[in-house]
Amino acid sequence: MKNRYIPITLIVAVLSVAAIAGFLFPPAVQENPARVVMDNSGGRVIFTHFVHADEYGYECSDCHHDDIGQERPISCGSCHPVAFDAKFRAEHQKSFPSEEACLRCHDDVPTGPLAEEDKPDTESIPLRAEAFHAQCMDCHESDGGPYGEDSCYDCHAR
Ligand code: HEC
Ligand code: HEC
Ligand code: HEC
Ligand code: HEC
Ligand code: HEC
Repeated sequence: MKNRYIPITLIVAVLSVAAIAGFLFPPAVQENPARVVMDNSGGRVIFTHFVHADEYGYECSDCHHDDIGQERPISCGSCHPVAFDAKFRAEHQKSFPSEEACLRCHDDVPTGPLAEEDKPDTESIPLRAEAFHAQCMDCHESDGGPYGEDSCYDCHAR
């Protein structure tokens, strides 16, 4: 090989390795979603996530009140399900990135069925729609934004 081809060969080699690495290790899911689409029985809600986090000037932790030291916040729905039913009991363990999150609701990290006295008090943990309505509207009432009896279709599609 002629000497003058060596630099270009090296560059191509480095770029190829970078391309393969990018393919094998894609970048993490975007950190601050532009919009979050929420389908529900009251009509679809399209939440302008980026605008809320950026233009309205809030900290991530103003809404993601349970960051638990993760790079990516845990979905609200992992802790505020539609119902604390058999499906939740069977599947919720898999939706947390670390055991630290278990201690948000359990006294210890459980490994099997719970004794009556070890069951979390679900009365104090709002379900999904209740958690959203409370968080969205409490802030709107104090800082501006839709809330109250006549506001339904400011958030929900008809
Ligand atoms: C005004 C409230 C609010 C602010 C501020 C906010 N978020 Fe969110 N974020 C939400 C809501 C509500 C959801 C929907 C979660 C769900 O459906 O469980 C969400 C969803 C997300 C998701 C998708 C999570 C998933 O898997 O469902 C990520 C990632 C995220 N937010 C990151 C951030 C980051 C990073 C910041 C700060 C730069 C931030 N958020 C600021 C309210 C907020
Ligand atoms: C890791 C679990 C976890 C995650 C994730 C989580 N929450 Fe909560 N949340 C709780 C628990 C447990 C409570 C019960 C009260 C308490 O202990 O703070 C609660 C309470 C609330 C309350 C009642 C008022 C208050 O602040 O105490 C609202 C509203 C709420 N959460 C909304 C949300 C929203 C919206 C998200 C997502 C942006 C979210 N939560 C994410 C666990 C979580
Ligand atoms: C948002 C609160 C919450 C978080 C966070 C949470 N759990 Fe639970 N967990 C519950 C509730 C509520 C039950 C059902 C209790 C009952 O039977 O009434 C439960 C039940 C369980 C059970 C018993 C299941 C059965 O079949 O009876 C196990 C095991 C368990 N959790 C493990 C975990 C682990 C492991 C984590 C963390 C990776 C975790 N949980 C995080 C609320 C939570
Ligand atoms: C921490 C405060 C806060 C929270 C939480 C919050 N908002 Fe807002 N929201 C605002 C502010 C501030 C405005 C802008 C009000 C204005 O300029 O008139 C706004 C405006 C809006 C608007 C009208 C303009 C737009 O951006 O579309 C909608 C719709 C809206 N919010 C939906 C939601 C929903 C849905 C949630 C819950 C998932 C939510 N908001 C949670 C503060 C908040
Ligand atoms: C600030 C925005 C906002 C306003 C205003 C609002 N909602 Fe909602 N609503 C939501 C969000 C967010 C959810 C949760 C979506 C999800 O579960 O993914 C929701 C959920 C619901 C649900 C589904 C309940 C369930 O258990 O599945 C109904 C029904 C509903 N809203 C009715 C109403 C009515 C009626 C009004 C007016 C009095 C109203 N909403 C006002 C944002 C709003």
